[in-house]
Amino acid sequence: MSGDQLHRLFEPLQVGTISLKNRLAFAPCTRQRSNLDGTPNALNVEYYRQRAGIGLLVTEGIYPDDMGKGYLFSPGLCTASHVTGWRAVTDAVHAAGGKIFAQLMHVGRLSDPLMLPDNATPISASAVQPDPTARHYTVNCPRPKRPYPQPRALTIPEIYDVIGHYKRCTQMAVEAGFDGVEVHSASGYLPMQFLSTNTNTRDDDFGGSIERRANFLLSCVDAMSEVRGASYVAVKVSPDWNFHNVFDDDAIGTYSYVAKELSKRKIAYLQVGNYGISWDVFGTLRPLFDGPMMPVAGFTRPKAVASVASGIGDFVGLGQAIMANPDLDRRYQNGWELERPRLEFYYTQGSEGYTDYPVYEQSKREEVVGPDDYTTPR
Ligand SMILES: Cc1cc2nc3c(=O)[nH]c(=O)nc-3n(C[C@H](O)[C@H](O)[C@H](O)COP(=O)(O)O)c2cc1C
Repeated sequence: MSGDQLHRLFEPLQVGTISLKNRLAFAPCTRQRSNLDGTPNALNVEYYRQRAGIGLLVTEGIYPDDMGKGYLFSPGLCTASHVTGWRAVTDAVHAAGGKIFAQLMHVGRLSDPLMLPDNATPISASAVQPDPTARHYTVNCPRPKRPYPQPRALTIPEIYDVIGHYKRCTQMAVEAGFDGVEVHSASGYLPMQFLSTNTNTRDDDFGGSIERRANFLLSCVDAMSEVRGASYVAVKVSPDWNFHNVFDDDAIGTYSYVAKELSKRKIAYLQVGNYGISWDVFGTLRPLFDGPMMPVAGFTRPKAVASVASGIGDFVGLGQAIMANPDLDRRYQNGWELERPRLEFYYTQGSEGYTDYPVYEQSKREEVVGPDDYTTPR
């Protein structure tokens, strides 16, 4: 890694209508520390403000409507109180010189009647239950400790309602002061339930061929783009990842089509996760998407530098390293040591393991690792 290549990580990047001050992004990380009604609070404000030196902050997954909620203490963006709560976050980030996108996360079938209005049955593309013998939820994760129930398939008018909720949520994101919104179409959540062949057995406009399985995601993007243009909208995908029990008979075909369609639409950026996939996910999608691409998962300083230097990544997403190092940009730039994330606090309450990670100058430096020796926990 040459100094010149490292320097490129700290060049600005145009994303949609905004300019990022460096090529680092805080990848979306659910932390479940908002109020029970989904309203972000002062602790959330402090957490995001601390990380405003990172070029782009992408929030944790936010539910765009009540049926999209999958975890207790996760934030929402569908009430006036949510808008007010997020406004305090975005104001603090902007005052500290940062930029912030909201990640809209509808969990679809990965919910539970205990968390839904009137104990409703979770919804999905088709009535396909996640494997009830598999333990999909994470340790410490505040959700009912029982198998995911059988979901019900959305009717066509209901699908248009959900698309409308993504649009309404985008309008609320504007009111809340966000710089843009990102559709979470990865990790087995609702848009990926439409994309994947095992969870989408429909034979109407929203299922069957690749084009029709992609129709839900692309319709959401189009509806959301009506609010502030496509440059206000981004997408995250995780091709071929079987997390949460989703499978695709032809993942390369599906995601090649999705990347090309999103490229035509000129969205703000495409976040692509490669979660241990055997084929070259980034190399396959890069030539198909003409816009800023943000690779994510398992990045370290040398890997981030190499990705930007090669042009595969215009900017790079980092999750756990930024959770543990609010000033990761400065630590990378100066070659300073890194803190390790404390996994036991990922989904707990309060400031511990959340807002108490020090900046470099205040670090006790007892259990730090060199910036190029850090490896991400899996
Ligand atoms: C505690 C935790 C919560 C996460 N929550 C989300 C989420 O809400 N949305 C999302 O797209 N990815 C989520 N992810 C995945 C991260 O964005 C990221 O892709 C992953 O941590 C791998 O990147 P890393 O090796 O840099 O940590 C989460 C990861 C962790 C560890």
